[in-house]
Amino acid sequence: MSTDQQPRANSGLFRTKTVEQSIRDTEEPEHALRKSLSAWDLTVFGVGVIIGTGIFVLTGKVAKENAGPATALAFVAAGIVCALAALCYAEFASTVPVAGSAYTFAYASIGELPAWIIGWDLVLEFALGTAVVAVGWSGYVRSLMDNVDWHLPAALQGPDAPGGTFDVLAFLLVLVLTVVLVLGMKLSARITAVVVAIKVTVVMIVIVAGLFFIVGDNYKPFIPPAVTPEGGGSSWDSPLVQTIFGYEPTNFGVMGIFTAASVVFFAFIGFDVVATAAEETKLPQRDMPRGILGSLLICTVLYVAVALVVTGMQHYSELSVSAPLADAFKAAGHPFYAGVISFGAAVGLTTVCLILLLGQTRVFFAMSRDGLLPRFFSITHPRFKTPYRPTILLGVVIAIVAGFTSINELATLVNIGTLFAFVVVAVGVMVLRRTRPDLPRAFRTPWVPVLPILSIAASFWLMLNLPGETWFRFAVWMAIGVVVYFLYGRGHSRLGREGQDARY
Ligand code: ALA
Repeated sequence: MSTDQQPRANSGLFRTKTVEQSIRDTEEPEHALRKSLSAWDLTVFGVGVIIGTGIFVLTGKVAKENAGPATALAFVAAGIVCALAALCYAEFASTVPVAGSAYTFAYASIGELPAWIIGWDLVLEFALGTAVVAVGWSGYVRSLMDNVDWHLPAALQGPDAPGGTFDVLAFLLVLVLTVVLVLGMKLSARITAVVVAIKVTVVMIVIVAGLFFIVGDNYKPFIPPAVTPEGGGSSWDSPLVQTIFGYEPTNFGVMGIFTAASVVFFAFIGFDVVATAAEETKLPQRDMPRGILGSLLICTVLYVAVALVVTGMQHYSELSVSAPLADAFKAAGHPFYAGVISFGAAVGLTTVCLILLLGQTRVFFAMSRDGLLPRFFSITHPRFKTPYRPTILLGVVIAIVAGFTSINELATLVNIGTLFAFVVVAVGVMVLRRTRPDLPRAFRTPWVPVLPILSIAASFWLMLNLPGETWFRFAVWMAIGVVVYFLYGRGHSRLGREGQDARY
């Protein structure tokens, strides 16, 4: 082991785990995941999770309420924030190729407490993200069922439907996907590849077929003038930046583009999940950056095109908020296309859900392997080599959450959590460059520290454009995490017990 630190026992909040130690842990047979993924698998995996509820559902909502045709610009803004973060993620994923994403990276660079915080944050991101997408999927499936005149009892249509309480479809979807994950990575990667092909085809249909139905007048004005929301808007659900600077709450206008960007940011979540599979990648140093940046680029181009087409097909004020892509075709008199799009969306959202669930269990697994959560959860299945215990536990919890929760507020909570993770990763890149300049980095983030600082500023700006309410909920979740750390993680930490590498 080539390390430049002297091992010493400690109980510090900023004790760090060496990169070598992180990699060595993955080689213990009973804690090892199988290495089977290539760059192509990762790109498919990335596109599989990135394209989902964001483009299929949120596009209509933000075009109608926040940005009009300029929603395309909101996608560009959110894409830039993600590209900056992706360049930081790619460095860490190729330097610390073990399960756990930003969590592992923070542990190797900043210290145990920040790592715990980020792990706890990622649990929120992936668990709620899975639930949000499952609920979105359920909506599309119900709409397809309506086409053939099948209807679920109102009570089983979920809390967003009139008279509904429990979303049985979302609940069942999460349980089925949990079983798929327990059976093994290879199975889920194969299913993903087929489903991703269907999903991308449907998005291409929207873009190419939709081009023929664009009406130029729908783009006027491209950036609708700012207006005060109905009822004046409250500071609780206005973007925090407006509350801080004492603006009248407004929708549309130039600021509306950023509000929209902070919401459609959800559409990009997933490229960071690719990093959670580093440990299962054959050549992570080469393939991880390719997988992350490749999938992000493909999705950004598709999103901008879809946003332009859809707001060109229908005036933004008339777009549907539940199934905008399909409904724009219905409005243009083409129900057949609408049916195909709904089918593709329902199929596509399945993979999004699956991969978010996978990312979630991998973070939990990594935290448990480090002793910050009970070690019981990090024993892999003797035959399938999957972390079946956290997969089953979290799968059941998320299924219940998906069954009982409404989609809207959860999506913004997921966004704030993810943006916060981006900030930590960018800080981590800068710290690790100073503390471990010797480590081999197959991919190096350009212009350090300028680019990571820009990434932090851009992520923070989007966070400021989220409502005060979302900030409050996020703060509560993180406060609970800190309490759990001090009650359990700190005392049980494997690093703390073994007294390995320490730096303050
Ligand atoms: N990016 C994923 C989606 O849009 C999470 O659903």
